[in-house]
Amino acid sequence: MKRVLITGITGMDGSHLADLLLEKGYEVYGMERRSSSKNRTNTEHLKDKITFLTADLTDQGSLLRALKDSNPDEVYNLASQSFVYASWEMPEQTGDVTGLGVMRMLEAIREYGKPIKFYQASSSEMFGKVQETPQTEDTPFYPRSPYGIAKVYGHWITKNYRESYGMFACSGILFNHESERRGIEFVTRKISDGIAQISTGLSNKIILGNLDAKRDWGYSPDYVEAMWLMLQQDTSDDYVISTGETHSIREFLDVAFNYVGLPNWEQFVGQDERYMRPAEVDYLCGDSTKAR
Ligand code: NAP
Ligand code: GDD
Repeated sequence: MKRVLITGITGMDGSHLADLLLEKGYEVYGMERRSSSKNRTNTEHLKDKITFLTADLTDQGSLLRALKDSNPDEVYNLASQSFVYASWEMPEQTGDVTGLGVMRMLEAIREYGKPIKFYQASSSEMFGKVQETPQTEDTPFYPRSPYGIAKVYGHWITKNYRESYGMFACSGILFNHESERRGIEFVTRKISDGIAQISTGLSNKIILGNLDAKRDWGYSPDYVEAMWLMLQQDTSDDYVISTGETHSIREFLDVAFNYVGLPNWEQFVGQDERYMRPAEVDYLCGDSTKAR
């Protein structure tokens, strides 16, 4: 039976990946942070099926202990400060967790000494102000947020450990993906939650930021399967995972409001400066030919 350690188990992708790997017969270990209030919404259904280990990407010793306790064949590093907007409020913490945290996990694996396969959650946010369209594995990065910059570090340190130490280390450059387990602060869930409140009379407005940004949105359970497939190849490499379609927030609002029979979404949606970003990623559209 293969053993796996997943960081970021309480998050959207972590919990979907755990579901997939349990189906495939893995023994699953999920790394969670020590926190004052447990965030178990996404993992409640996993509590008797997997082993939870307490560790933090900012604490090297805890990562080595998590490896010793799980003795994994594969590690999926999905933990990060993943909210782009918050990365301007906490650039240092974002760099520490989302950037340096990757290096700490790679170092822990190196020190542990077992040939563990490693997956790094890279991001289309690294393309930022896009240098070509659609974006491929060879498109130059131009990150536009402290988060994107931290992810570029994580991406390159993963490549560097592959080249320096011959580690089986892959980066998946995943474009936006969503699911019913998505955090409420991200735009798709903020909109769907807002519509639920409006259609049940609990609220009459959703206040958003920039409605003109375009994203290439996929579905998280499909994307975690792509992560797993990357680690099942003969050699390690980096892959773009995307749908190849892009849509604006306005189009998303149109579809979402129409779904509940409210065609005039403009009357329920306001905009406020406080949700605008200091620098925006206007347009993302991926080319996943290599992965396909
Ligand atoms: P998510 O739901 O926000 O989950 C992030 C996870 O990281 C949570 O479990 C969180 O734990 C954990 N975490 C945060 N700081 C940590 C720390 N210092 N030490 C250990 N764990 C920590 O994110 P997601 O959407 O599933 O995304 C998974 C990964 O893919 C992330 O690295 C994200 O940046 C990346 N990514 C996501 C997308 C996307 O569209 N979803 C696209 C490309 C890349 P708590 O519950 O304790 O906060
Ligand atoms: N969150 C949020 N809230 N976004 C808003 C709002 C709002 O009120 N109004 C407009 N937006 C716009 C943002 O400015 C952005 O252009 C777009 O909606 C998507 O925002 P998010 O859903 O927060 O996602 P993201 O694209 O910034 O980042 C996500 O995708 C990345 C991959 O490209 C996250 O999952 C990152 O972790 C991931 O790396």
